Amino acid sequence: MSKTVRNADAASAGSSSATPLLQVRDLKMHFPIKEAAGLGRTRKVVQAVDGVSFDLQRGGSLGLVGESGCGKSTTGRMITRLLTPTAGQILFKGTDIAQLKERELRPFRRELQIVFQDPYSSLNPRQTVSNIISTPLRVHNLVKKGKELERVQELLERVGLNPEHHNRYPNEFSGGQRQRIGIARALAVEPEVIIADEPVSALDVSIQAQVMNLLEDLRRDLGIAFVFIAHDLGVVRHFCDQVAVMYLGKIVEQGPREQIYSAPQHPYTQALLSAAPDLGTIRGVPPKERIRLVGDVPSPIDPPSGCRFRTRCWKAEDICATQEPPLMTQAQSGPGHTAACHFAEPKIDLTAATA
Ligand SMILES: Nc1ncnc2c1ncn2[C@@H]1O[C@H](COP(=O)(O)OP(=O)(O)O)[C@@H](O)[C@H]1O
Ligand code: SF4
Ligand SMILES: [Mg+2]
Repeated sequence: MSKTVRNADAASAGSSSATPLLQVRDLKMHFPIKEAAGLGRTRKVVQAVDGVSFDLQRGGSLGLVGESGCGKSTTGRMITRLLTPTAGQILFKGTDIAQLKERELRPFRRELQIVFQDPYSSLNPRQTVSNIISTPLRVHNLVKKGKELERVQELLERVGLNPEHHNRYPNEFSGGQRQRIGIARALAVEPEVIIADEPVSALDVSIQAQVMNLLEDLRRDLGIAFVFIAHDLGVVRHFCDQVAVMYLGKIVEQGPREQIYSAPQHPYTQALLSAAPDLGTIRGVPPKERIRLVGDVPSPIDPPSGCRFRTRCWKAEDICATQEPPLMTQAQSGPGHTAACHFAEPKIDLTAATA
């Protein structure tokens, strides 16, 4: 369908030596909040994202995984510059777009698209599907006068919708179909990167696989690179070649998919894997021996000192409260695998951590 079809295989071949398409460096988003304290008012910040770094290769796919509230959507919104970061760099093809003003951002907006979690609130209910999809085409001057409808129908067909339904309104479609419309809108401008923010979380289980298959087809056929946001490791297992696990605004473990799933180093990753029933079965872990996370995620306004995971970690020792563990290469499990834990180990013993 697209004029600039990129081949994912060609793009990823030799990608390890090529400059990554997207390089995120020490990205931070601190939201200021006002809070009454005693007689006066103090200014506090929500440390929603607090120093996130990762690379995305051309045609590659990175899974960004963590519990609700850990900063995944905020990260996605910064990369697509719906938010301006407090600090850090977002290098897209070598240009730092983190602080660019709207005019300079324009060409980059086209290249970096987002698909939102909620297909109900992300589409304007008063616009027809044709309007929704053709607006970005007009904004970016991507289609000749008189050819808009043809392009809209082509896009609808590409995402598995009936091209004859271009004049319908979002409320005439099911959740899965609406998410396809959101995907068509993102595809319209022929982006190089799509941030898919929990794109199937709001859908019925039976529909989730169909939408995942569509995204997989787009990745393969068009060579689009994906940052795929999810709250559990099960969803991204087949889709992503790299996985980054987030906890309270930071990445605690990152690496190639095989290493994250077969040799997780960080206790939080181990707990997330253990919580995914299908993955537990695959790895031969009986349900009763699974790690269960206890307690709530602490507030990002006042995160724990040292290691942010320490209030829920069964391995925590004194050092965890005083020293923040840096992301260290886990050479024993393979190249490109990093984890931030004072006691990261190459092997996990799930039975030692039974709740
Ligand atoms: N505009 C905002 N102002 C203040 N806090 C925010 C704002 N947006 C998000 N947050 C907070 O930042 C943290 C991360 O949110 P979010 O990125 O949506 O997490 P996730 O997508 O992982 O569930 C949460 O504690 C959330 O309440
Ligand atoms: S540094 Fe300490 S608290 Fe943090 S994950 Fe490792 S053992 Fe647990
Ligand atoms: Mg979110």
